[in-house]
Amino acid sequence: MTKKSCILITGGAGFIGSHVVRVFVKKYPDYTIVNLDKLTYAGNLANLKDIEDFSNYNFVKGDITDNTFVLNLFEQYQFDGVIHLAAESHVDRSISNPIEFVMTNVIGTVNLLNAAKKIWNANIDNPVSNKKFYHISTDEVYGSLGAEGLFTEKTAYDPHSPYSASKASSDHFVRAYFDTYKLPVVISNCSNNYGSFHFPEKLIPLAINNIKNMRPVPVYGKGENIRDWLFVEDHAAAIDCIFHQGKIGSTYNIGGNNEWKNIDLIHLLCQIMDKKLDRTEGTSASLITFVKDRAGHDLRYAIDASKLQNELGWKPSLKFEEGLEKTVSWYLSHEEWLNNVTSGAYKEYYTEQYAKR
Ligand code: NAD
Ligand code: TYD
Repeated sequence: MTKKSCILITGGAGFIGSHVVRVFVKKYPDYTIVNLDKLTYAGNLANLKDIEDFSNYNFVKGDITDNTFVLNLFEQYQFDGVIHLAAESHVDRSISNPIEFVMTNVIGTVNLLNAAKKIWNANIDNPVSNKKFYHISTDEVYGSLGAEGLFTEKTAYDPHSPYSASKASSDHFVRAYFDTYKLPVVISNCSNNYGSFHFPEKLIPLAINNIKNMRPVPVYGKGENIRDWLFVEDHAAAIDCIFHQGKIGSTYNIGGNNEWKNIDLIHLLCQIMDKKLDRTEGTSASLITFVKDRAGHDLRYAIDASKLQNELGWKPSLKFEEGLEKTVSWYLSHEEWLNNVTSGAYKEYYTEQYAKR
């Protein structure tokens, strides 16, 4: 990238995207950052309130499945780089409505690839090296591990949920555009994130919200599934590192080296919440409720992030206990955010504000 680059970040009003937008807007004042987001239930401009008036930040409301709109946007801004995070991201929703996931995650990604290919005039005889299309993906494309082993960049894809199948499909398209058109792409596959601005339908923010309100905490099956948790700000730092230093055509795994059984994680969360809310020990844990398991529930995810660490020098900065405590404190001090995202009030307010511009 040059100092004056114009960067498109898609899905920048979501959980991870808002952290990425914040890092780029603050750290690179000479870049122009364009945040393209449809503002679905998961996207919220309140997540970016602290940077909305920065002169290098622009928000565009739009849908990546609309190919004419996407192409016009690329023509208007002549982006030098793309960091693509926009997606439908919740496995349970993908089980009840897979088509939405095909539309945004697959068709939306291909629309962006086509626009980048056209604007950068990428083809097999014209390899482009001064631009970058960075696709953000998930470790869920690799499927499920048994008790042993880690996902590496060479692990074969074996997705099980409609969500992971749609992400796997989008990853394949991104690679195909590199092989076929020499589009300058890079991909990363990250493990489960946690931290501030996480929509309270995913395990950690949902449990925090329910414990706070003395509501049951649903644990699927026996709670024995294992996830490798990474603090969202560490993911944003990895994205910054890969966007600037990642080798074109490469894939990087990102993970926290931090495996937790769901039930152990929930017990740790309950202990933290009892302390923070001044409750008698065991009060929060009494809310744990085992419920019917998720269909096709992957047993274990765990990432080998050594390529990223050895080649680009990134590593997680925070221990899980510290990150979880920080996250609980954030949710307890952002009651208004939590109430507004669950009621949809922010979405209404910002949609109205946007319409007035
Ligand atoms: P999120 O659901 O919080 O945010 C997604 C954002 O995309 C929202 O702001 C939403 O409004 C926007 N969006 C959805 N459909 C759109 C469309 N058609 N057009 C434009 N914008 C649209 O998701 P997240 O957890 O922040 O995940 C971001 C990316 O990171 C996704 O690609 C996801 O697959 C990937 N990822 C997430 C995790 C995780 O633990 N959350 C882990 C690894 C990878
Ligand atoms: P989730 O946060 O939905 O992320 P993902 O499915 O992408 O890993 O779920 C994390 C783990 O927690 C997963 O094993 C499913 C489980 N889970 C529950 O036990 N209860 C819940 O209410 C939710 C949302 C998830």
